[in-house]
Amino acid sequence: MKKFLLLLSVSSFAWVLTFCNTQSSPEPDLPTQPTTTDTICFESQILPLLRFNCATSGCHDAASTTAGVVTEDYTTIRAAVTPNDLANSKLYTAIRTGAHQGVRLDQDQVELIQNWILQGANNTTNCSGVTAFECDTTNFTYTNAVKIILDKECISCHNINVSNSTVRLDTYEEVKKVGASGALVGVIDWLPGWRTMPQGRPQLPDCERTVIRKWVEAGMPNN
Ligand code: HEC
Repeated sequence: MKKFLLLLSVSSFAWVLTFCNTQSSPEPDLPTQPTTTDTICFESQILPLLRFNCATSGCHDAASTTAGVVTEDYTTIRAAVTPNDLANSKLYTAIRTGAHQGVRLDQDQVELIQNWILQGANNTTNCSGVTAFECDTTNFTYTNAVKIILDKECISCHNINVSNSTVRLDTYEEVKKVGASGALVGVIDWLPGWRTMPQGRPQLPDCERTVIRKWVEAGMPNN
């Protein structure tokens, strides 16, 4: 009998162990290698993404952070990252699933941050090719001017994944709708009655505003 009890307790102990093991969901294997050989540009790709989605939301700017994480510049962002080590990068573990405190990043954006960390989380600036948009008021096509400006200044807050905005600027059809309503020019020119965009940032340079205005006046062609 004693033997039986002993056996029972040993086996139930083993069962409890197994049970606990299956209950605590272990971290999935996180990638250790970047999925691209292109160098991710901190200045033009990572910083705007984190500023727009995390700092200007009133959560991770220096004035309002309660989590101790600030996403305003390289130094503060780097403090939440261990280069080449996703599991020990607070920044990554927070956004890994794409949803964090109501802010949604799409899979491409998560992968971008993942690749940047796995490339060493460097302060890459003035990256050639990535920021090469030369504004010229005689070029006001959708593809080669308007879209580039909206992509760099607006879509981080106005895309299909951002649930707290009804305005989308991530497809031609959506941009056309916003343009036709007068809102697009209203918000960039800071006209009375409209919000001032980009939110929390300086007004766009004259040239970029002229390009968007001219495109709207031309009937918003998909060119
Ligand atoms: C940091 C986030 C952020 C950025 C960047 C941003 N917006 Fe907004 N935008 C908002 C929020 C928040 C609102 C208010 C909620 C809503 O209507 O979606 C808003 C509202 C708008 C509206 C509706 C305005 C109104 O008065 O009804 C338009 C149009 C708009 N934004 C266009 C733009 C354009 C164009 C840019 C780029 C030049 C831009 N936004 C950049 C966050 C942002």
